Amino acid sequence: MDQPTTATTPGPDGETVTLARVTGETGGDLVLRRVGAHYEIYSNGLFLMDTRDGTSEREMVRASLTALPRGRSRARVLIGGLGVGFSAREALDHARVSRVDVVELEPQVIDWHEGELGEAAGYVHQDPRCRVHNADLVAWLTEASGAGEPERYDAICLDTDNGPDWTVVEGNNHLYGADGLDRLTRLLAPGGVLAFWSANEVAAFETVLRERFATVDVVEVPVARGVPDVVYLASDPR
Ligand SMILES: C[S@@+](CC[C@H](N)C(=O)[O-])C[C@H]1O[C@@H](n2cnc3c(N)ncnc32)[C@H](O)[C@@H]1O
Repeated sequence: MDQPTTATTPGPDGETVTLARVTGETGGDLVLRRVGAHYEIYSNGLFLMDTRDGTSEREMVRASLTALPRGRSRARVLIGGLGVGFSAREALDHARVSRVDVVELEPQVIDWHEGELGEAAGYVHQDPRCRVHNADLVAWLTEASGAGEPERYDAICLDTDNGPDWTVVEGNNHLYGADGLDRLTRLLAPGGVLAFWSANEVAAFETVLRERFATVDVVEVPVARGVPDVVYLASDPR
């Protein structure tokens, strides 16, 4: 692992400090920066997530839980991608949730939550209802949905990529294709909701979801600049 650097540069949002630069699981640079009061994560030079807003990452979870059948309690939530922890925090703060499993590819991202980054989402991994699994979600799904009766989730919320048409690693394309959707559906509890985060609308993906699920909602979440973020919610597998 490369050594962290403490190089600082002034910027419009405040001083920029590179807190860590390591080689990630995909072989490229994984970087944690503090910019003023905020934290940013980059992978292979691609922006992954920061702590400035998180509205749509939280909305993905809130809308999924709201869409569950009336009276559903002790809900189990699966979250793909820890990032800065906003989605996991939203799930843990919800009165209906008894358990949150988070699957995160990068061990370093998980480790960063032990330090100052963890404060942004209230150290989600320390909540006894939360389990953070260090794994590639694609492989994890294959195992979890394999032989036997799988553990099922009331809400499955995926935010591993910029969207179905802009994945951070090629292997993540499986999550939005037939095989991934089959596996995700197998892990869905009756009445459960499957949610995907995207930085833009992807009409072809919506079509795929409508072919497979009787109920599909497309939630647009306005952002300060540019096109709205989009959350796809799918339930009632056909
Ligand atoms: C956009 S961030 C998630 C943001 C998160 N919703 C939040 O509230 O902070 C994407 C995360 O997914 C992780 N990731 C990407 N591909 C993955 C995979 N195949 N399996 C597990 N985690 C993955 C990245 O390392 C990163 O931490």
